[in-house]
Amino acid sequence: MTAYVAEPVYLNGQFLPLAAAGVSPLDRGFLYGDGVYEVIPVYSRQPFRIDEHLARLQATLAGIRLANPLTVDAWKSVIFRLIADAPWDDQSIYLQVTRGADDKRDHAFPPASVTPTAFAFAGPLVTPSAAVRAAGVAAITVADQRWARCDLKVISLLANVLARQQAVEQGCAEALLIRDGFMKEGAASNIFVVKDGRLLAPPKTQLMLPGITYDVIVDLAQVHGQPLEIREIAETELRAADEVWMTSSTKEVLAITTLDGAPVGNGKPGPLGERMWQWYQDFKNTVMRKG
Ligand code: PDD
Repeated sequence: MTAYVAEPVYLNGQFLPLAAAGVSPLDRGFLYGDGVYEVIPVYSRQPFRIDEHLARLQATLAGIRLANPLTVDAWKSVIFRLIADAPWDDQSIYLQVTRGADDKRDHAFPPASVTPTAFAFAGPLVTPSAAVRAAGVAAITVADQRWARCDLKVISLLANVLARQQAVEQGCAEALLIRDGFMKEGAASNIFVVKDGRLLAPPKTQLMLPGITYDVIVDLAQVHGQPLEIREIAETELRAADEVWMTSSTKEVLAITTLDGAPVGNGKPGPLGERMWQWYQDFKNTVMRKG
């Protein structure tokens, strides 16, 4: 096992040491990025929103016209076995399905005899530390150069990779993707904006990943009577925001306090973001850590 990958890992029906989990170099995930993935957070050895994550996996598979190689129950038994065998209480489960390995290279789908490759492993869940949350993080804006089906959680992530790398090279934690004058999301997170006490979130279109955390935040806003508008957010509104947050399964709710070198609001994490983080923890503790 490495510091990031527990053993055994799951590959095509077997639980194996990482070094024994081999995939053909002709796998279409390797040749074409032809596959899908999920990241599921686990708290106190309980997967968070597992049904929603498996439903999104199914929706993405349908979107790329690939049959799910496992039933929901079969995925759950894989996930629970990985969780049980991993050394950490809080984990991040990674699932990936590709269109498998043919005996040649051809863009069109392989024959039905080629079976998908299914891979899964458990890693440690590392959420932002209290110090990082207290300071917030810096972000940049970049042009959204992704394809037109960003609602699918596919492994072809080159535009996201380049955007995130640009952020990292500028000492930032995230890149916010701007398309046609509107902010869609982050390279690997959804983005919320606060203005004059109202929470704004971009709508779920084909140009944004429908985040599982996004849904939790929207539910929590509604439960707690927090004014919420789901609508497109112009780049100009992003720059005039009182608060900007990134949300994801691994970052939870994290304030962005600097954008392209300028302070967001007063440059400190705002009160609404702190409240939402607390609502998120309370919700998690109620549903996950019942004991
Ligand atoms: N990324 N948007 C993009 C482009 C993402 O890659 C992610 C998650 C999200 C947030 O989705 P969720 O709340 O379901 O985690 C939004 C994962 C964590 C990743 O790629 O590692």
